[in-house]
Amino acid sequence: MNKDDAIIRVQKLTEILNKHNYLYYVKSSPEISDYDFDMLLKELQKIEELFPELITEYSPTKRVGGDITKRFETVVHRYPMLSLSNTYSKNEIEEWVNRIKKSINDNLEYVCELKYDGVAIGIQYINGKLFRAVTRGDGVKGEDVTNNVRTIRSIPLSLKGDYPFDFEIRGEIFFSKKNFKKLNNQRLEQGDTQFSNPRNTASGTLKMQDSKIVSKRQLDCFLYGINFNDNKFSGHFEAVNKVSDWGFKVPLQTHRYIEKTDSIDGIMNFINFWDENRFNLPFEIDGIVIKVNKYKNQLELGNTSKYPRWAISYKYKAERVETKLESIVYQVGRTGAITPVANLRPVKLGGTVVKRASLHNADQIQKLDLHINDSVYVEKGGEIIPKIVDVNIDNRVKDTTPINFINNCPECSSKLIRNDGEAHHYCLNELGCPPQVKGKIEHFISRKALNIDGLGSETVDLLYSNGLINNISDLYKLTFEDVITMNRIAEKSANNMIKGIKDSKEMPFHKVLFGLGIRYVGETVAKKLAKSLKSISNISSASFDELIAIEEIGDRIAMSIIDYFSDERNCYIVKTLGSFGLNMEVENKLQTSNIFEGKSFVISGVFNSFSRSELKEIIEMNGGKNITAVSMKTDYLIAGDKIGPSKLKKATDYKLNILSEEDFILLLNGKSN
Ligand code: IVH
Repeated sequence: MNKDDAIIRVQKLTEILNKHNYLYYVKSSPEISDYDFDMLLKELQKIEELFPELITEYSPTKRVGGDITKRFETVVHRYPMLSLSNTYSKNEIEEWVNRIKKSINDNLEYVCELKYDGVAIGIQYINGKLFRAVTRGDGVKGEDVTNNVRTIRSIPLSLKGDYPFDFEIRGEIFFSKKNFKKLNNQRLEQGDTQFSNPRNTASGTLKMQDSKIVSKRQLDCFLYGINFNDNKFSGHFEAVNKVSDWGFKVPLQTHRYIEKTDSIDGIMNFINFWDENRFNLPFEIDGIVIKVNKYKNQLELGNTSKYPRWAISYKYKAERVETKLESIVYQVGRTGAITPVANLRPVKLGGTVVKRASLHNADQIQKLDLHINDSVYVEKGGEIIPKIVDVNIDNRVKDTTPINFINNCPECSSKLIRNDGEAHHYCLNELGCPPQVKGKIEHFISRKALNIDGLGSETVDLLYSNGLINNISDLYKLTFEDVITMNRIAEKSANNMIKGIKDSKEMPFHKVLFGLGIRYVGETVAKKLAKSLKSISNISSASFDELIAIEEIGDRIAMSIIDYFSDERNCYIVKTLGSFGLNMEVENKLQTSNIFEGKSFVISGVFNSFSRSELKEIIEMNGGKNITAVSMKTDYLIAGDKIGPSKLKKATDYKLNILSEEDFILLLNGKSN
């Protein structure tokens, strides 16, 4: 490709990618599959690698991050970022409306909006391109977090339509409940501690130095205001509708996320509706915002030094009850992290009975200055687990002493360790502490690891307490007789379990590696390690420098891998797994047979262990035929991640055999039909 062709193709790809990004993230109505989108993005990345001079700050490839911000520059806001006056009282909202009515002689209109619970951002666009994004800071000056904001897919990098030359748009960056949960699940999988609050996590994420991590966390953004000289819009509501044409994600009128009204009744109706329905929203809110709509009225009302007089927020009270703290128990997680949990006198809160609340860590207990038998206030917001927010000191019983965090593991009595800068205490007795041992085995058999059918956490508990398993390699020593002699296991279940364990030997190497449960080695890291170093012997002998040279592997992960393999007991477990026939290296996938004779295959999506061309080759070398379109005559559809929706639908309609990657491996090895 010569440079002229590259310029044309880059332009075209940018246009197509921007369009589909908009359809997916702003309009929620995708027209192409994720796979096709990724292929176009990859094509653009390749051209940019060949012609780096064509890379712009507005390229869709910037969404995946990569730019590092060493120091966030301080920027003075062109328009100060004010705060909102707020109230918890409907009467005060009514008084606010009446005050405004008295001072403005006009037919007043109000816009009611949700108060998104995230962090404020001001984004300047010059000539239709995202120029700079700045946090609120102290309202006068904030920090330049442009690299990170560019990774947020719902914020356009380039605009369409008739936008002003230079303007600033303001909005709120937040985590959807779904993405926050996803992030915490990934952390759990990697042995990291959980984030407890989406707002603080959004704020922390926005200030991360590596924009690649920010990109992966999938923040979102709603816009709520626009500032520019010569504003021609009549009011806020009209402006919001218009900026949607430029490509911004604005609150949906169809979902009642925003509403215009001219009466107090209209405002109250909006408040009451969301008081009841707020927990069903896909993101968290902490109230609603009411704004005088017309800009000329806003100008007349003006601002105080802190707040605009033309807007106010009504905050929903977090539901709070008082109850007694009866005791504290300490839970030990799979990674040895200790979490204190409060046992409470049962109390009704938000429609459910609450008996326990998380206390997170020792600092939290100290900060609240908790004593046993204290009368505590408990709150619950959205989907977050209940938490103790305060102590009612007036009700404190005399002569009680503060709670001291435990020094020894409640399960195995080992001394607990707390490293500098870490919030959690840890039990380091990984291979001897029962919940850690069982947790490791549960992780090993879980769906994303070895996916062992016929085994669940209850059975693991039973096998462990009967002395039959002490680590993951012991699973492969189990016999039908061992299992059947345990109470509560029926013959059929015992057979299933033994078969599930045997089948797991066919699992690809990266799943075994993930299953080992090495701290910080999650699914993606395991795949990267397997791809680069190919075998367990290479990984176990890799030096720190060799490890950090691999994409996505930093100091923390490298140290953890080295620590793991420096423990003889882990090496023994790994060796034993290998001797039982588990895959300890990336498989040489090419084999020859005629087991697919007369069978036709369609491949769609992305796969973990194979490239699509490798899969095609395997099918052909085993007598099968590859075809591109799904028809009634197709025998199998091999479905990877991000499979094309139309192929999947057709295959389902024709009732074809749909195989996952794992099903395909089993079929190839003659283990299923
Ligand atoms: S308007 C002049 N609208 O609430 C103030 N703010 O407590 C303009 N917020 O810093 C703000 N949702 O980050 C506005 N729909 C909404 C909002 C909203 C959330 C945040 C914003 C602001 C804070 C004020």
